[in-house]
Amino acid sequence: MHLKDRSDWLDLDYKPKLPFNKSRGIGIIGAGAIVEACHLPAYRMAGLHVVGIYDIDRSKADKLASQFGIGRVFGSLDELLAHPDVEVVDIAVPAKFQPDTVERVAAAGKHVLCQKPLAESYEEAKRIVSSIEKAGVVGAVNQQMRWSPGIRASHTIAQRGWLGDITQTTVQVNVLTEWEQWPWITKIDRLEIMYHSIHYLDSIRFLAGVAPEYVYADGAKFPGQASTGETRTLIHMKFPGETRGLIHDNHNNIAGQDDWYATFRLEGTEGVVTGTNGALYNYPTGREDTIRFFSRRIDPDYWFAPKLEGRWFPHAFMGTMGELLRAIEESREPENSVRDNLLTMQMVFACYRSMEQNRPVRLDEFL
Ligand SMILES: NC(=O)c1ccc[n+]([C@@H]2O[C@H](COP(=O)([O-])OP(=O)(O)OC[C@H]3O[C@@H](n4cnc5c(N)ncnc54)[C@H](O)[C@@H]3O)[C@@H](O)[C@H]2O)c1
Repeated sequence: MHLKDRSDWLDLDYKPKLPFNKSRGIGIIGAGAIVEACHLPAYRMAGLHVVGIYDIDRSKADKLASQFGIGRVFGSLDELLAHPDVEVVDIAVPAKFQPDTVERVAAAGKHVLCQKPLAESYEEAKRIVSSIEKAGVVGAVNQQMRWSPGIRASHTIAQRGWLGDITQTTVQVNVLTEWEQWPWITKIDRLEIMYHSIHYLDSIRFLAGVAPEYVYADGAKFPGQASTGETRTLIHMKFPGETRGLIHDNHNNIAGQDDWYATFRLEGTEGVVTGTNGALYNYPTGREDTIRFFSRRIDPDYWFAPKLEGRWFPHAFMGTMGELLRAIEESREPENSVRDNLLTMQMVFACYRSMEQNRPVRLDEFL
């Protein structure tokens, strides 16, 4: 079969959408690696308005404020919450600090973008949801892979019915990750699924359009690894009917970058999308995502290979914050709401229970 680049004709509607009002004030909590590499570059690209930043280590907040021209460095969380121009709070601190932080932010009447993972236990995740709903503010989660070009474009293709009924969603990754660059992450018992494959779980649920009924997971370490938690995982997901999902993720590829891969595949009764996740190639620079797809409903003789612009890091961060700001503007629940994220959290904790008990775990065990 032939390959066609028909990006112009296809219009896959995959780019992050931004609010009408870009001047709504954002206050950032945490001035670490991800804020420097993604939040602030994405907000600058999008033209969003960052009022100020706070970190328990003031020197880090000072550094990012001068690097990105942010007008204020707050001396405390209370100071940030008291500022009248801060309407939305963007949290980027390790997950164990998130529940208490969200409680204070919501009680102050501010909307909030939480980091992933929402919490390190399901009880804490529920506590976050109830503190946000009780305060009547809008809360979303920075589960931004849904807005990565390859995943969003694949979602559009599926939504248009070009794949027929979805039968399989697969993510396969084989790379080398130096976890030591985040010293706190090397000391936690639950690593790969909680901090990395959580993106794949959320994206697979998004692509399938429904949460799985159960997951069956296995996690392993690499002999002699420095980190405490699992760094290789296999996750099987059973969705209602005949749909299945699979994640195979290894972060210990010793063969070098030429051998790395990060692929995804979405299959249906009428077509197939295959793609690469560009963020994990050409490390640390990355490259654009790629997809190609085939649909019997459009043209049985061609694979389409539309070119995609933008990346998971940092462009997709415009998607998560953009969706929260648009939801506030339109008085609706965001697609990435904290309540919706409870389903992703159920998948994460079901995986760990499955690993511990060596059995399939139904998500409704968490209800
Ligand atoms: N969405 C994503 O793809 C993505 C990617 C990487 C990291 N993250 C998440 O972002 C969070 C931060 O990760 P990072 O890589 O920036 O880590 P980091 O260690 O580089 O930065 C964390 C920062 O938070 C500050 N901090 C800690 N507790 C605080 C508190 N109570 N109040 C204010 N500041 C506090 C620290 O001083 C530090 O500057 C983690 O939860 C991580 O899971 C998300």
